[in-house]
Order: sequence, then structure tokens, then C-alpha cells
Amino acid sequence: MRDTPDASSDSQQGNRPTSDRRSLQATSRHACLEGAGATVVATTAVQALGSAPADAAASTMTAPASTAIRLTVNGVSHHVEVEDRWTLVELLRDHLDLTGTKIGCDRSECGACTVLMNGQPVYACCQLAVWADGADVQTVEGLAHNGRLTPLQQAFIDHNAPQCGFCTPGQLMMATALLNTVPRPDAVQVQQALVGILCRCSNYNAIVEAVVAAGAQQGGAA
Ligand code: FES
Repeated sequence: MRDTPDASSDSQQGNRPTSDRRSLQATSRHACLEGAGATVVATTAVQALGSAPADAAASTMTAPASTAIRLTVNGVSHHVEVEDRWTLVELLRDHLDLTGTKIGCDRSECGACTVLMNGQPVYACCQLAVWADGADVQTVEGLAHNGRLTPLQQAFIDHNAPQCGFCTPGQLMMATALLNTVPRPDAVQVQQALVGILCRCSNYNAIVEAVVAAGAQQGGAA
């Protein structure tokens, strides 16, 4: 594992049982709601400040709370000062330059932002960055090694699974989580595993075929 210099000053950066996946989604949505609640509180506070002296409002708004965290992303260790309001996908895309992870809905509905955190798929738009302190995160950039695609990525190409491609990183990460636990899933198992990742091109049949083919080819981890 490589270790980058302290980035706090220069941020360089199944078959999961259906019940588990529902639990994941429920947890994410619950977390999202908690975040929304915090936003409402913050908004209310700012509105209240509107009637307070301008200097008091300014002093409150110029220093967002932040926390120093350590996390590993795709095998690289990072020490980053994150604002407490940042989501994990913001940290990945805007501060670690890992833009492979996409933001579709930004509200825990589409699954485009799916990454693996400690081996479990999560919606990165509804995970606060501070919650990733100490975590091992894998994004789509962490799949290929030395330019060599994983069997799953190659199967996506061979089966024309990407159309517009926007959901592809999320599909790949969720399918990777599936193949890590169920090496040779059948079509129904793949459908169930990917139910939380929406494809606006509706290319679901090709995506499922690709994941089944990858599992049949390797019979092991993605
Ligand atoms: Fe995170 Fe849609 S962008 S679920």
C-alpha cells in the first residue's frame, strides 16, 4: 500500500442477500434523511442570522466545521481535512480527483455513486466523508491494475453493457461486491443484486448478461 504525504495541507489526493441490500439502502436513505435534517437546521440557523448583526452572521458562516480523517482509497492512504458537511462522493470527486464515481440524483435513489467501503457497497452521496475515517474505500478507478481490466470490466465491453455509461461505475462496483461473495451468480441473483442501480438507457439485459458471463468465466472474485 502506498502512502501519500500528509494531504491535510495538500489534498492529493450477492449475492448479497436481498435483506442485506435492502438494509444498505435503508441505512443510506436514513442517513440521507439525517443529513437533510441537518441541512434544515443549518438553513434555519442561517435564516435566523439574517436578522442578527451582519458581522455575527459573517463570523458564523466563514468557518465551517472540519475534521481530519485518514482513509485508504484504492490502496492509497490519505490524511485529509474534510468539512463535516462534505459527502464521501464530494471528497472523492472534488478533493481526491477520482471523478469516475458519478453523481446522478445526489439523494440515494439512483445508485450511480456506488463505491465499496470496507468491502460493502454504499451510496457515496449519502455517506458523510467524516464517516469514512479509517475506512478502506474502493472506487471504479481501483478495479483495473496496470491498465489490465478485470474480467467484469471486459465482460461489460464484450456484452455492450454500457450505453451512455453514466451508471456504469455504480453497476461495476455493485457487481464487484456481488462477485466477491457469489462467484458464479445466475441471472436472477444478478438482477436482485443490481436492483438499486438505475440505468436510464434501460440496458438491463446486457448488464445482467455481462455480470453472469464474468462470473462464469472466472468463477472467483471480480
Ligand atoms: Fe448517489 Fe444517486 S447519486 S444514489
